[in-house]
Amino acid sequence: MQQVDHEETTAQLQHWTGEFGTGYRERNDFAPWKMPLGVEAYRRMIGGLEVRSILEVGCNIGLNLSYINELFGGVVKLHGVEPNGEALEELKARPGIELAGAWNTSAFDVPLDDGAIDLVLTSGVLIHIAPGDLPRATDEIVRVASRYVLCVEYFSHRPEEIPYHGQQGLLYKRDFGKFYKDRYPQLTCVDYGFLWQEEFRIFDNLNWWLFEKR
Ligand SMILES: C[S@@+](CC[C@H](N)C(=O)[O-])C[C@H]1O[C@@H](n2cnc3c(N)ncnc32)[C@H](O)[C@@H]1O
Repeated sequence: MQQVDHEETTAQLQHWTGEFGTGYRERNDFAPWKMPLGVEAYRRMIGGLEVRSILEVGCNIGLNLSYINELFGGVVKLHGVEPNGEALEELKARPGIELAGAWNTSAFDVPLDDGAIDLVLTSGVLIHIAPGDLPRATDEIVRVASRYVLCVEYFSHRPEEIPYHGQQGLLYKRDFGKFYKDRYPQLTCVDYGFLWQEEFRIFDNLNWWLFEKR
């Protein structure tokens, strides 16, 4: 298993690979009641797509990968990148989901060839990357995706930082859809939406954008 390259570490990654990351993992466990909600959310976002491989960058214990696995009936090759080694080990040990690839590294250094994966997604991950580091992460995501990029993150009209669990320097909101659209002319937004917490109580009012490489 590939380890995190420590020269690539950031203040945010140090939190996610330490006690802060352990606390997150323990608060956000897998539970069977979450499955139908998660499957319905991913059905709306990517249900009709013909994809053979999916990578989640920042997959943690793989809740989203489990929903996606169920949605596609287990036929899509699933991959995960996660800097927190304990979270990735938990995902790899979970019965009922088989990964074609799992790497203990960050979005800054995805160990896959250009265009290796049909759809690459993040959910609640770009918000935890400092603005100055964001292009390094999204460049990797766009490089590895052959066809689709799915971005599921918190929205703000203007880039802003807000405290996360009482701490500064850990959560940044913006219009991530516009960020992708402006930086990558090869991407076309083919759909977008909102996972309203009133309906999807497993998600925290997340905006999503689906881009296709053209
Ligand atoms: C809020 S959690 C979301 C987990 C998962 N995507 C989900 O929706 O259940 C943020 C995740 O991103 C990971 N992460 C933080 N910074 C990252 C980075 N630079 N590259 C990849 N993953 C990162 C954390 O370790 C954590 O697993």
